[in-house]
Amino acid sequence: MCGIVGAISKDKNILPILITGLKNLEYRGYDSAGVAYFENNKICITKVTGKVDNLVQKISDDDSSKIGIAHTRWATHGKATTVNAHPHKVGHITIVHNGIIENFEEIKEKLSQCGYSFKTSTDSEIAAALLNYYYEEYNNIEKAIESFMKEAKGSYAISLLIDNDQNNLYCLKKESPLIIATGNNFNIIASDIRAILKYTNKYYILDDFEYAKVNNSEIIIKNSKGLVLNKELKEYTHENKENSKGHYKHYMLKEIMEQSKTIADTAIPYIDDGIASLLTMPDLTKYNAIDIVGCGTAYHAGLVAKYLFQEITNTKCNVYLASEYRYQNNFLSKDTLTIFISQSGETADTIAALKLVKSNNLPSLGIINVENSSMTFLVDQCLYTKAGSEIAVASTKAYTAQVTMLSLLALSHAYRNKTLKEKEVLEVLKEFKNISNLITPLLDKKNIYQSIAKEIYNEDDIFYIGRGLDYVLSMEGALKLKEISYIHSEAYAAGELKHGTISLVKKNTPVLCSATNDKLNPKTVSNLKEVLARGAKVYLITDDSYNDPAFNIINIPKANIFIKPLLIVIPYQLIAYYTADLKGTDIDKPKNLAKSVTVE
Ligand code: AGP
Repeated sequence: MCGIVGAISKDKNILPILITGLKNLEYRGYDSAGVAYFENNKICITKVTGKVDNLVQKISDDDSSKIGIAHTRWATHGKATTVNAHPHKVGHITIVHNGIIENFEEIKEKLSQCGYSFKTSTDSEIAAALLNYYYEEYNNIEKAIESFMKEAKGSYAISLLIDNDQNNLYCLKKESPLIIATGNNFNIIASDIRAILKYTNKYYILDDFEYAKVNNSEIIIKNSKGLVLNKELKEYTHENKENSKGHYKHYMLKEIMEQSKTIADTAIPYIDDGIASLLTMPDLTKYNAIDIVGCGTAYHAGLVAKYLFQEITNTKCNVYLASEYRYQNNFLSKDTLTIFISQSGETADTIAALKLVKSNNLPSLGIINVENSSMTFLVDQCLYTKAGSEIAVASTKAYTAQVTMLSLLALSHAYRNKTLKEKEVLEVLKEFKNISNLITPLLDKKNIYQSIAKEIYNEDDIFYIGRGLDYVLSMEGALKLKEISYIHSEAYAAGELKHGTISLVKKNTPVLCSATNDKLNPKTVSNLKEVLARGAKVYLITDDSYNDPAFNIINIPKANIFIKPLLIVIPYQLIAYYTADLKGTDIDKPKNLAKSVTVE
């Protein structure tokens, strides 16, 4: 998703701040970049396609400014071209924008009739034009911003410059994240605080329909009615030590290998002192159902939780893709707890679903990794996963941290509603305390994963199958492979493949499978034999003692149902990684993808 930085200083050149901020926002995914700054009383704009380094090439060492804005663009409306890149200047107004103006056609129509013409196919240029329209009408930028907020629909985080005003930056926000950081004789606007921690860790969070006037010594934040707000100044205190790859080739590999620690870090507060710690988890017994909402990998973590809540705690549980949740009749009920899962806490689809639940005054719980992200201020209660900063776009340690948190939540519920005896719960807690010893050996099977990667990396289609919880894990396995290797891979319920898709299975088509359910395994093995009979190559992750030479077996240790998902996913993550490594893709920042999808 787009990244925004704006900076103003009394006595320093802010161009290095803008570039550093953009580089630290690269994890959000983008395909073009640009900068606008005052130099000799004029706004200079430079825009490039591709990486921020291309922008750096175009800024000379003599260029210097005390006020400017910058942007990395993840294309929504209009291709990744220099013309469509931000900043966009219309009349007196120059802006950078993250989000989507949903009624951009209606606004374009109105402005065209007022004589405006447009150079780009972006909604952002129309946003700049609407701000300029009202600026010319009122000759007052704050009234222009307030009028814009009344008319523009959708999401926006905007920072803007005005011709002939070198002393003030402005910014406005609705649904897309925006913070204003403050330093000594300088202030910075950014999409997230971590982008500019090099300069300061004190910041304000803008909420929806708020805007600010920012100069080098003052930050005035107002609501859409122009009322000055007294916002809390926050301090980001979390070590940002993770942002180096260390000796690893990619962040993704580093983050996969960290999972012995991040899973334990997430679990410790709830297992350290046995049942007493576990019971610090929220009490779910007052609800008669649990809904879970998330996107992508977070959704897959929710499906693991559904299995545990329904099969173990006998509690009704539905899991929804956030982008679907809003547009269906969910039979909302005060007796249902809705759990929102998000690594970034900024995913627009998930935030929108959360706002729907909140607007109905219904209970919500967040399972979120990034502290002080937008969702943490919206949920009734937040359980922070301890995965640390996850830089790679493909989520790995955040997923296992989410599954850990959800497993322990389900375990605490099983204790409270007596679907498990205390002895059984203590058994699970004991295994959680040993989790690193179960995970580490799986991380160390590099040769096995690399040899599988060598056999599959040139294939066009790869299938992942399983039954029950193994089917749920196959979804995460397929997503990991496709998003970083660009190989078409699909997850199928093992029993479903023969109802159509098996027609795609041909000689050497890889079929990856996990079989870890004694009751279901015989049927899964039958499904494997069906694909083998059609020439497939089978790779089987199992805790069972199969020794069929036709199966390439990856053994994992036996573990209870609350821990098993954390073991099954490791081979899937590393097979995906080594396959993509052989393909030479941009593993940490795969094409078209963003780490935090802040548009719907
Ligand atoms: C997972 O590898 C992807 N990067 C993506 O599916 C991600 O899980 C999804 O966009 C949700 O992100 P969130 O957890 O930050 O809300």
